[in-house]
Amino acid sequence: MVLAADRLEFVERKPPLVFDEIDFTVVNPERLATRLADPLEYAQRVEHLVGVTQMETLMPRRSDEVERFLVQWTDDELGHARALGHLMELVGLQPVPLDGVVPPSQNAKIGALGRASKRLHEVIEVIWATSGAMNEHLAMTAYHRIDAILQADGEQALHETLFRRLRAHESAHKSFYATYAAARWATLRGWQRRLARATLRRTWAPVGATEAVDRPAFARTVVALSADDWRETLVDPLQSIAERIMGAAGEVGPIVERAVVLTLESDPAGEELLQRL
Ligand SMILES: [Fe+2]
Ligand SMILES: [Fe+2]
Repeated sequence: MVLAADRLEFVERKPPLVFDEIDFTVVNPERLATRLADPLEYAQRVEHLVGVTQMETLMPRRSDEVERFLVQWTDDELGHARALGHLMELVGLQPVPLDGVVPPSQNAKIGALGRASKRLHEVIEVIWATSGAMNEHLAMTAYHRIDAILQADGEQALHETLFRRLRAHESAHKSFYATYAAARWATLRGWQRRLARATLRRTWAPVGATEAVDRPAFARTVVALSADDWRETLVDPLQSIAERIMGAAGEVGPIVERAVVLTLESDPAGEELLQRL
């Protein structure tokens, strides 16, 4: 896990997002709110969810490296949520309230399996890190698109002091997850690999869109940000991350396309996007 240690240091040493240093100057609040309401709402909710997810319960056996990563990662994502929530308020959008949101109940059950068996813990860890790499890539892509829209609209301050940094953070997170997942995968036995693949196939969904009730918000974000190229910009890169870590395409299956189509079907705008192809 030498490479993962290296990536962890990179995550810890990257320039932080300091709230007081963000320049929230908005040239045209109405335009920003109109164009980016759905993506901002989705991103702010997902960033904030991290604070209650408590990944620690999923991995009671975590190593020093994973422990350190989770501390930095939680801090980063909550900082992202705070900045996005503030921006939303500035342009007249309502940040998503998260009162009463509790960690997913299955995390504790999965954690108990890992506590009972080291081999199962290794499987849990590889699934966590693989889907983490996929979801961080997704976040990175979303911020890249939001940033491009802001730049095109002349919102230079937000580009310079917020969205560039957000993208860089997600990229750093992704590189740790992907490196950790690949290193862990290399240590797994055949049955562990089959179990990890089968579980990812059955359970993977874009972050923040696991529950049916949250799928439309994700669908509208895809519609707002990627329009007709969602397969190239969203499905293909995430699928290839899963395949690079977990092996040949046939063995992983088209998990990303299936999950994204499911979210698109949940909203009229998403349905329309699907029919355009
Ligand atoms: Fe984030
Ligand atoms: Fe992240």
